[in-house]
Amino acid sequence: MKKLIVANWKMNLGFRESFTLAAAYKKTFKRYSLDSARDKNNEVVVCPSFFALSEVADVLESSEIFWGAQDVSWELKGAYTGEVSAVSLQELGCRYVIIGHSERRQYQGESCRQVNLKARALLDIGLTPIICVGESWEKRQAGTSEAFVSGQVKRALAGLKLKPMQDLVIAYEPIWAIGTGKAIKPRDAELMHAVVRKTVLKILGSETRLRVIYGGSVDERNAPELLGLPDIDGLLVGGASLKPDLFYKIAKVE
Ligand code: PGA
Repeated sequence: MKKLIVANWKMNLGFRESFTLAAAYKKTFKRYSLDSARDKNNEVVVCPSFFALSEVADVLESSEIFWGAQDVSWELKGAYTGEVSAVSLQELGCRYVIIGHSERRQYQGESCRQVNLKARALLDIGLTPIICVGESWEKRQAGTSEAFVSGQVKRALAGLKLKPMQDLVIAYEPIWAIGTGKAIKPRDAELMHAVVRKTVLKILGSETRLRVIYGGSVDERNAPELLGLPDIDGLLVGGASLKPDLFYKIAKVE
């Protein structure tokens, strides 16, 4: 499977800014599609705010870039004020949806149970969840990262069934590395990715179409090394994804 490079624009942009950045992405990534090694290109996904999805989708429609959302409701329809359903995300052409991001777990109190329900809703509709997991600095210091993260993975996957050919993405994002400029050491990333992979394959079976991607202070300097590691199947990029040239450097294949 291709490596997956996901831009998480978070709540950093307004409507017009999102539109403008999507247009800049399209222009910058023109080089990507002209690349002679096109088939080897990484898969690139942009996740804007809900309100900008439709416009961003229009801009990116004729490009090599896919789009997705930053969250979803676990219900498919009904009286859930302010929520957005997987059905409407699918209608807008989303392929991927980020769920369980640590910022949502922290500020919206999103629980593992909710992440599990959201993953079910997405898989039911045929969208690919990008399930975020990751430990705090305290847990890392205490040496409990592996147990904590594999517990998060287990709870997120409880009772899930993937249809044949359905994909699953887990984003390992240590909380202490998000937005801090302090990316994980490649050796530690490898170890955590191996833990995540082992946990998923044990639950869902060894045939699972799984990608384990890394997020947390990814930039154009550390991306090549991270992407070169065998257990890292892609990157989830926050801050650096707001600059199209930087993001292009991260996403392009050498
Ligand atoms: P960052 O964010 O790249 O700005 O650290 C990553 C994320 O939160 O997904």
